[in-house]
Amino acid sequence: MRIAVVPGDGIGVDVTREAVKVLEEVCRRHLIALEMTSFPWSADHYLQTGETVPPGGFEDFSRNYDAILMGAFGDPRIPDMKHAADILLGARFQLDLYVNYRPVRCLDDRLSPLKNFGARDIDFIVFRENTEGAYVGSGGNFKKGTPDEVAVQEDLSTRKGVERIIRHAFDFARARGRRKVVMSDKSNAMRYVGDLWQRTFAEVASEYPDLESSSLFVDALCMQIVKDPRQFDVIVTNNMFGDIVTDLAAALQGGLGMAASGNIHPGKVSMFEPVHGSAPKYAGTGRANPFGAILTVAVMLDHLGRRQEADAVETAVQSCVRESRCTRDIGGSLSTSAAGDAVCEKIVLGP
Ligand code: NAD
Ligand code: IPM
Ligand code: MN
Repeated sequence: MRIAVVPGDGIGVDVTREAVKVLEEVCRRHLIALEMTSFPWSADHYLQTGETVPPGGFEDFSRNYDAILMGAFGDPRIPDMKHAADILLGARFQLDLYVNYRPVRCLDDRLSPLKNFGARDIDFIVFRENTEGAYVGSGGNFKKGTPDEVAVQEDLSTRKGVERIIRHAFDFARARGRRKVVMSDKSNAMRYVGDLWQRTFAEVASEYPDLESSSLFVDALCMQIVKDPRQFDVIVTNNMFGDIVTDLAAALQGGLGMAASGNIHPGKVSMFEPVHGSAPKYAGTGRANPFGAILTVAVMLDHLGRRQEADAVETAVQSCVRESRCTRDIGGSLSTSAAGDAVCEKIVLGP
């Protein structure tokens, strides 16, 4: 298994160290030959060299690696996020990783912030379209810095882009025994894009009569997720709404430190990262929760066809959470690296 590792900035570095540790441990226990290469792409690297991604960097990933593991990007010294745009969004766009897979699973009742719902009730997946929408960088400004300033940021959806993420959500639901697919948009206010999503969803849904399908406006979706998360199985939505909904959903898992994700193009090299950012104030303090990054390793292993190993990682994290062998944000007292060690100790299952 050949993995490219890009820890990035801030706590991205801290949590990726633990994710790598757990990956090494699970591969050792399960007799998987693992080769990892670390890439320095980050804010520091950019400030020192002026380089974000070297020429051919993504082609190298496609040709030579099975998957990419990333930490997080964001640094107060680079307010325009130039390096993050090139590295993180660059990977998503240039590798055409159109599926942003964000599982929402609460691993222990203790982590649920909802009074009436716990681990059994919070278990759904958000599929976020990952290559279009408001993220394409289409737009511009005019008369910048004057009282007449104008800024335009376009929200772009294509039939192909909308169809492939919706189809992926249905295929996943069918393959994994999920019954309901909810599409979320804002077609009451954003007519043109909303109309495209609505029609495409209805057409694709008609090919999956065995699955329930419905749509919800994204504002209502946010309310319903908090009101009763049991309603949801699979949610599919656009890039921006998916970003927002998955931070909300992270809170149902115990916080941003617990949320994992995959940036996937089925059949091509894909990239895996926790949902959270670089949380600069916690960088290097030992406060960062590594479980989101470690659960991301499970998502990556699952994607690479290593279901048993993915389960081993997830089960190990779950038992650490249950025993409160975890960081402070989720009620423990361990440092980032001690929490990573605790997960490694729990990985006992052999092949
Ligand atoms: P953030 O996710 O970095 O942190 C927000 C808050 O969530 C933190 O202050 C902390 O309280 C909590 N948190 C996040 N991760 C945690 C963890 N592993 N353990 C414990 N607590 C955790 O979001 P932000 O503060 O809005 O952004 C900081 C920087 O990260 C910005 O530059 C932003 O653009 C960037 N960012 C990057 C990514 C990414 O690389 N994928 C994602 C989100 C934000
Ligand atoms: C995420 C992040 C990114 C996004 C930022 C850092 C551009 O918030 O991965 O959720 O908006 O996609
Ligand atoms: Mn986000």
